[in-house]
Amino acid sequence: MTVRLQVNVDHVATLRQARGELYPDPLRAAILCERAGADGITIHLREDRRHIQDHDLRHIRKGIQTRLNLEMAATDEMLSIALQNKPDCVTLVPEKRQERTTEGGLDVVANPELIRRFCTTLQESNIAVSLFIGPDIEQVEASIEVGASAIELHTGELAHAREAVSLKQQMMRLQIAAAHASNQNEKLSVAAGHGLTLDNVQDLVREVPELSELNIGHALISESLFCGLEQCVGAYRRVIQAGVKARSKVAADIRRTRG
Ligand code: PXP
Repeated sequence: MTVRLQVNVDHVATLRQARGELYPDPLRAAILCERAGADGITIHLREDRRHIQDHDLRHIRKGIQTRLNLEMAATDEMLSIALQNKPDCVTLVPEKRQERTTEGGLDVVANPELIRRFCTTLQESNIAVSLFIGPDIEQVEASIEVGASAIELHTGELAHAREAVSLKQQMMRLQIAAAHASNQNEKLSVAAGHGLTLDNVQDLVREVPELSELNIGHALISESLFCGLEQCVGAYRRVIQAGVKARSKVAADIRRTRG
């Protein structure tokens, strides 16, 4: 299994909006990422339009060759924008005005009917729907129940864990959630994202073999200031690939110890 790299280019727009200029252009960044081996581009059209604007969505939709994943809140305004622009995938995320970034996962357990309506309407237009959830069994089960095409597990708590014990606990939460999702529905794609860096991606990919996609933004775009976007995408591709390679070693070790 390969693991797809979706690069989130929101922060290119953050830099542009800081000065109200026409540059840097997130589409230009998206095209460079594709050339360097990204499997797709992710953007989050926030209700407050703090970074990505509606015209960015239109330009990126037309200008890229790979897969477009649109992150958005489950509102009627966003639904009609998604239906007009037809991204390949919509990832539903919770949104709060005051937050600096998406802080938690979607509460599918508390809002099944709303989320089901979004899944059905978007899928009828051939748009896959992924739900950004915390790595919790109840949220995984509710996501399957409402008919999601994919889930994206929130890796923020893993990324922020500093002590070995909490790192292990958070990795286990992700392992249990991902394995449960695949056992319940083998067609469900399992992605992960938030706070991923060159330091934690390889372990995550190795330890959670069900993962087939990663969404990475802040750390990758930040590092590109120093190393260039294409170099950075290449570096992430290499650590992801090293994680995938190590999976088979872990699986072989398990088989050997079982005899
Ligand atoms: N996945 C989702 C659903 C997100 O909302 C974000 C943040 O925009 C990311 C992934 C990327 O997180 P980061 O910018 O920390 O890499």
